Amino acid sequence: MELKKAVGLKAAEYIKSGMIVGLGTGSTAYYFVEEIGRRVKEEGLEVTGVTTSIRTKEQALSLGIPLKNIDDVTHVDITVDGADEISTDFHGIKGGGGAHLIEKIVASNSKEIIWIVDDSKMVDKLGAFPLPLEVIKYGSQQVFNHLEEKGYKPAFRMDEAGGKYLTDEDNYIIDLHLGTIENPTALEAELNQMVGVVEHGLFLNMVTRVLVGSADGVQDIA
Ligand code: 5RP
Repeated sequence: MELKKAVGLKAAEYIKSGMIVGLGTGSTAYYFVEEIGRRVKEEGLEVTGVTTSIRTKEQALSLGIPLKNIDDVTHVDITVDGADEISTDFHGIKGGGGAHLIEKIVASNSKEIIWIVDDSKMVDKLGAFPLPLEVIKYGSQQVFNHLEEKGYKPAFRMDEAGGKYLTDEDNYIIDLHLGTIENPTALEAELNQMVGVVEHGLFLNMVTRVLVGSADGVQDIA
């Protein structure tokens, strides 16, 4: 928890008044959003937030951070978000929290993207963390079957009540238990073309800065 907080606070140092800021989702981004809220309240920081999930929107509103919808801004200056895995070539898997669709939309409209992670998220190759796919409900069993035939070891994500997990956009998530992704670019191209898959959690060539928290402190490695 301390490492997550440390990287969240460090990332907040990049935020200046006047910026439009993408507010990520998850237990690490939580600390960044808290710090932005504190600075808005105590230091008069003037920013506009664009949130990446209902959870983050509720948090930001409770902190008094002014918000706009992604469609009501011309761009986003910096998005700060967590990640589930980051490879040595700075590709990432996101969506462990089920928010990767909106996270990717916000990130795609951002001039700068900062990922904040603890050092347990840094890997040689992606894939040990299950790769999330957000899928339209209609025909989702067919998508699942197709993925199973390909040997991608799919599993519908379930919620605490034992039903299928629903995203903010009311879609399902299928997690792929791939083990290792040898060629993320090829997999991305394949998933981009799969009918019924709204968005996958591969974030390739997107991040501009990575802040990693470890026992030695916070390192800026990209
Ligand atoms: C949510 C995400 C999160 O950024 C990712 O799961 C990391 O979360 P945490 O900081 O809680 O480990 O992609 O969809």
